Amino acid sequence: MTANSRSDDPSIDLDDIGTNPTSNPSFTDLIASRLSRRHLFGLGVGTAGTALLQACGGGGGGGGVGFPVLPPAPAPAPPAPPPPAPAPPAPAPAALKLNFNAVAKSLDDVVSVPAGYTASVLYRLGDPIATGVPAYANDGTDAPATYDRRAGDHHDGMTFFGMDGANKWAPASATRGLLTMNHEAITPLFLHPTGQTIVGTGNAAVRSVADEVLREFYLHGVSVIEVNKNGSAWSYKQDSNFNRRVHTLTEMAFSGPAAKTDSLKTKYSTDGSKTRGTLNNCANGTTPWGTYLTCEENWAGYFRRIAATDNPNRTAKEITSFARYGVASTGRELWATVTPDTTDNIYGRWNTQVTGATATDDFRNGANTYGWVVEIDPFAPASTPKKRTALGRFGHEGACLGPVVVGKPLVWYMGDDSQNEYLYKFVSAKAWDAADIGGGIAAGDKYMDDGKLYVARFNADGTGNWLELSLGVNGITSGNATYAFADAADVVINARLAADVAGATKMDRPEWTAVNPKNGDVYLTLTNNAARTISTTDAANPRYYNDPKGVAQTAQKGNPNGHVVRFADAGGDPAAVSFNWDVYLFGARSTASADVNLSNLVADNDFSSPDGMWFSHATAGLLWLQTDDGKYTDVTNCMMLAALPGQVGDGAAKTITNVDGATSATQATFVGKAPGTDGLRRFLVGPKDCEITGIAESGDGRALFVNIQHPGETTAAANISDPTKFGSHWPEGGTARPRSATVVITKDDGGLIGL
Ligand code: FEO
Ligand code: CA
Ligand code: CA
Ligand code: CA
Repeated sequence: MTANSRSDDPSIDLDDIGTNPTSNPSFTDLIASRLSRRHLFGLGVGTAGTALLQACGGGGGGGGVGFPVLPPAPAPAPPAPPPPAPAPPAPAPAALKLNFNAVAKSLDDVVSVPAGYTASVLYRLGDPIATGVPAYANDGTDAPATYDRRAGDHHDGMTFFGMDGANKWAPASATRGLLTMNHEAITPLFLHPTGQTIVGTGNAAVRSVADEVLREFYLHGVSVIEVNKNGSAWSYKQDSNFNRRVHTLTEMAFSGPAAKTDSLKTKYSTDGSKTRGTLNNCANGTTPWGTYLTCEENWAGYFRRIAATDNPNRTAKEITSFARYGVASTGRELWATVTPDTTDNIYGRWNTQVTGATATDDFRNGANTYGWVVEIDPFAPASTPKKRTALGRFGHEGACLGPVVVGKPLVWYMGDDSQNEYLYKFVSAKAWDAADIGGGIAAGDKYMDDGKLYVARFNADGTGNWLELSLGVNGITSGNATYAFADAADVVINARLAADVAGATKMDRPEWTAVNPKNGDVYLTLTNNAARTISTTDAANPRYYNDPKGVAQTAQKGNPNGHVVRFADAGGDPAAVSFNWDVYLFGARSTASADVNLSNLVADNDFSSPDGMWFSHATAGLLWLQTDDGKYTDVTNCMMLAALPGQVGDGAAKTITNVDGATSATQATFVGKAPGTDGLRRFLVGPKDCEITGIAESGDGRALFVNIQHPGETTAAANISDPTKFGSHWPEGGTARPRSATVVITKDDGGLIGL
């Protein structure tokens, strides 16, 4: 095994590897504003009159509300004069009320939901999605060639696209839809008879069984499955013509500034117009015309590039780019090592080293063809997915659609999930026209290929700025000392380098974003950051502490439990270039000290490492929060909580004391109002060794789809032949191998979930 194979050391979270070497601003570098915090919150946050409707994880408005009915936007309000202090009180909270008994923290190998609810398994790793494909044996013997018609592994971000009797998008559909979901990665141990077959060690390690690798190619990517409600039960339709798997062998087109440029040319696509496949599809997004966005997160590690031998064949710019994106390993699953290669290079395309005479003779540019947001039309099973390069290339977590208003630009908010990476947003050049609903990939060409990419800087005074990433602005020029940007394609391909130059704020691993449909506030999960030090905290990433774990009291330093930042774009305009922010919530053990448990969490709502996050549409204002945690797992498996958040600025300024042994330091920040158990309550706890991620709801909000990712993931490779030592047997129980799966949650009385 190699250090880059997940199965080598399953305790290592491959997301934890950071590659940002810059010294981008901590708060001390920034000019302090003379405006008081309170003053700023009076400036038209979440203005009334803006039609708010968002659909980052969901398929559009539930409860009969659809995109077509949105009115034209009102004229923008003139800049408001500074209001008198104090700021007006927050609007009255909506009448939503959490209405379930909290689920206790648990280490059991089950999915626990509150009394009065039922969680049923819907779609498991390996389940067949075409006629004639046999049921999954789940012992590593299933025929590799069938996997392009089976559920993938590691279910992740997910959207329910309601569908009517004419097979058209119908967001309010309560009984039928196309459930579209990501399959982020694999737990290789359980996919083959005895795990991955690897011969040799270090740089000489090779995968010697090609069929195993073929299975793994198919198990990454995206599923589209038709789901139906029959009586009160949901099931997927195995023989639906809409069922589809998109995987690492699926042809994809490029569009936007990088398409058909030299940097995307490969032996597979000598004009740089296309590539094969998508992988490490983490969170997701939607468009207002009814398509799905899948986001390529930790793709860099899959490519093989031995720097010591490849660097002499590379330009200084290429080496800078590889270092910034972390493309320098033997390849996470060693896919490039299978011999002989096929004539169409399905294995060799993962070798991104210089091996031929020119870029069209090899795959030296292969890594440039990943790291994008990819658009898929679930209603057109034969359509070619498109990689939208205008949205930048980085470790894309998700792409949450901002408020959709006729006549205004469309906006997507996007995290880059690695330690000390950034938050981005894309603003379309074209204004939204509801006539484009149902326009498929062609509508994407209109809105997603032309626009501005921005990165966020969080200032110490509670304000923030969106810094444009375009050639010639914010220092992004051909004269830049670190990286000489050549053109618009170079900027989007190397968006991280552009963001470094612009002066973005290094965050504690930006994961999902979610937009509150009630007021337009944008939430960002920052899952954790072991690389945060006591001297590099800033106002928006303010905590450094040690959170000892387990009986051995193993040290966990940095920001091990994560937090959730939120912000309001200025004037309620998602296209604005400034914002106000605060920290909505800090993850912590309820027993932690006051400077760690800053949100006053208690036994019914304490959590660690927030990741998945999504506002329900049918119950506008209800927020679901999911965890991908390894820090509090001495006490509980990963979980999902329901929340009723307030708004940016509903708390107060606070100075906290960070401690590192005998050293302490203070850090000023802004902490949102503590949620209490009326504002945050644990709804679900998953089985052992899993992550809870991906969420969607039926059009009426009475079915909630949730993904359980990689139960039993940390099972040691040596234990594959001893089921008593598997980390989990969920969902089948007994001695079964564990399987990632989608569950559907319903309330036994047929009511709305959580309320
Ligand atoms: Fe794949 Fe950022 O979690
Ligand atoms: Ca995630
Ligand atoms: Ca995560
Ligand atoms: Ca995971």
